[in-house]
Amino acid sequence: MQVHKSVMLDRCITLLTPAIERNSNPIVIDATLGLGGHSKAILEKFPQVKIVGLDRDQSAMKIAKENLQEFAERITIIHAVYDELPSVLDSLGFKKVDGILFDLGVSSLQLDEAERGFSYSHLAPLDMRMDQSDPLSAAVVLNTYTKGELVRVLRNYGEEKFASRIADNIIKARASGLLNNTKDLAELVKSSIPAATRRTGGNPAKRTFQALRIEVNNELKVLETAIPAALDRLSVGGRMVVMSFQSLEDRIVKRFFADASESKSPRGLPVEMAEFAAKYNLVFRGSESASDEEIESNSRAQSVKLRAIERIAA
Ligand SMILES: C[S@@+](CC[C@H](N)C(=O)[O-])C[C@H]1O[C@@H](n2cnc3c(N)ncnc32)[C@H](O)[C@@H]1O
Repeated sequence: MQVHKSVMLDRCITLLTPAIERNSNPIVIDATLGLGGHSKAILEKFPQVKIVGLDRDQSAMKIAKENLQEFAERITIIHAVYDELPSVLDSLGFKKVDGILFDLGVSSLQLDEAERGFSYSHLAPLDMRMDQSDPLSAAVVLNTYTKGELVRVLRNYGEEKFASRIADNIIKARASGLLNNTKDLAELVKSSIPAATRRTGGNPAKRTFQALRIEVNNELKVLETAIPAALDRLSVGGRMVVMSFQSLEDRIVKRFFADASESKSPRGLPVEMAEFAAKYNLVFRGSESASDEEIESNSRAQSVKLRAIERIAA
């Protein structure tokens, strides 16, 4: 059985428990099923729960199906991008749900499958598609985007200070047929960055790989659509937990959670009217991180930021 160490597993379950236990037939959405680690723990702990698990990666889904075989009657696994959540729920006849979990980013399966091209430490084709039936791969981005478009991707999604130099070198290398795999790209980034800067901040290719992955999978735009859509589908008393692994994603989650939990009362009203009151409550302020102990045994947990919100009014 292939495994992925699920991040902040106990904490996710604890946070979802009040929402699950208040209903005799609870529905939980695992918007990022992966290998099914979080779903399995929920199905084991709550015998009455039914889960709808989404993933855009068919090879992850196949493994999740095997890992969750014994719960086949209580989990529906669907190939979808999570911004399709409303239409998935409509097709299943679910108006509202009790719990929603987003465990964003790539799974260790995706990182470990060298040929997927997600990791700068493996020699692989320039792919990075989470859904291998999508037309846009990293190779397409690197070989067809203009310099301006490459700079935008590297700056916006990688927060890369040397975006312009890297983009120039990408254009040169592709014209000479020298940009064919992840190793070529990692070397190109390294040689585009001044030696003094290279000594700090880990592998210099990290930001470029992150930026390309976000572009290829349209990750931020999809998240911006998915979070409000998911909030809308929570029932009163329902809870949503989101784990982000990089600041661009966490900023989006934070912004939507802050807006949803704020009163919309016009200034100066002496008393708050129910129609303007916030419909959601943050379960705790800010974000939570994994414990040192967890980080020691699972490096993926190092950058996690977990946020949780509860619906308090219809
Ligand atoms: C970190 S893994 C989830 C791991 C899972 N919680 C577990 O414990 O096994 C994230 C998964 O979400 C999927 N994913 C990422 N973005 C997605 C999106 N926009 N729509 C659907 N699935 C997505 C990835 O393919 C990956 O399998």
